[in-house]
Amino acid sequence: MPFLISFGLSLFFVLSSFAVPIGEPQWGQTGHRTIGEIATDHLTNRAKKKIENLLDGHNLAYVSTFGDEIKSDKRYDKYYTWHYVNFPIGSRYEDSKKEEKGDIITGMEHCISVLKDENASRADQVFHLKLLVHLIGDLHQPLHVGRAEDRGGNDIKVSWHYKKSNLHRVWDTQMIESWNMSYTELEQNMGQLSKEQIRSIERGSLLDWMYDSRELAERVYASASPDDKLGYRYSYDHLGTVMEQLRKGGIRLAKVLNEIYS
Ligand code: ADE
Ligand code: ZN
Ligand code: ZN
Repeated sequence: MPFLISFGLSLFFVLSSFAVPIGEPQWGQTGHRTIGEIATDHLTNRAKKKIENLLDGHNLAYVSTFGDEIKSDKRYDKYYTWHYVNFPIGSRYEDSKKEEKGDIITGMEHCISVLKDENASRADQVFHLKLLVHLIGDLHQPLHVGRAEDRGGNDIKVSWHYKKSNLHRVWDTQMIESWNMSYTELEQNMGQLSKEQIRSIERGSLLDWMYDSRELAERVYASASPDDKLGYRYSYDHLGTVMEQLRKGGIRLAKVLNEIYS
């Protein structure tokens, strides 16, 4: 085979084996890492020690994208539906038809139960810790609590600064990337919260937090229609919500981990 063709083919296979992280990141890497960084700031010393030990010198920001990195590996197909939950607007999760392979709620609950199980192997604990960090992040992207018919906005085609996109990607990645700050800069510029404000964010269960996202998702669906041209105006209106969700995600992730390792 001529060198250029075989080189081209190998390049194609190498690139396509990374297809998901390059093509369609969830909350974008920056969003997930920001949540990991904020969570690290809110960990108790005990939880911090336990996590440092399990993650072998990596931090929560570093492992926060793990859930997406395994997505293009067939061995991990069973986790694909764990990143989101869809149910009809106006209905309750509890009454809705459940995804057979599990959803973000059952996924987080499973991870938590493994982390609380003293007999779970170290490898299992590490895997489920990394996955939990990712899933609590996803839970705070409103369109991860979306409608099945448009796959959480993935099928709502819009443009973003004149380039083809979809509503889901605008919320996962593009508003954050357009702001052009690193995850550490985002974390450092979140602004101060009072103890009472933090306590109020921490309150509630996984289901309550899922319903928070559902309420926002309804507003996100109302904020754009197919073929809309989105850009600066959209960021002016919604970047604040994105930042608030990243902060809630970080504080709540820390709360869950502090409880597990208390
Ligand atoms: N695929 C199907 N529904 C989805 C959602 N709500 N979020 C992300 N990916 C999805
Ligand atoms: Zn997503
Ligand atoms: Zn995800």
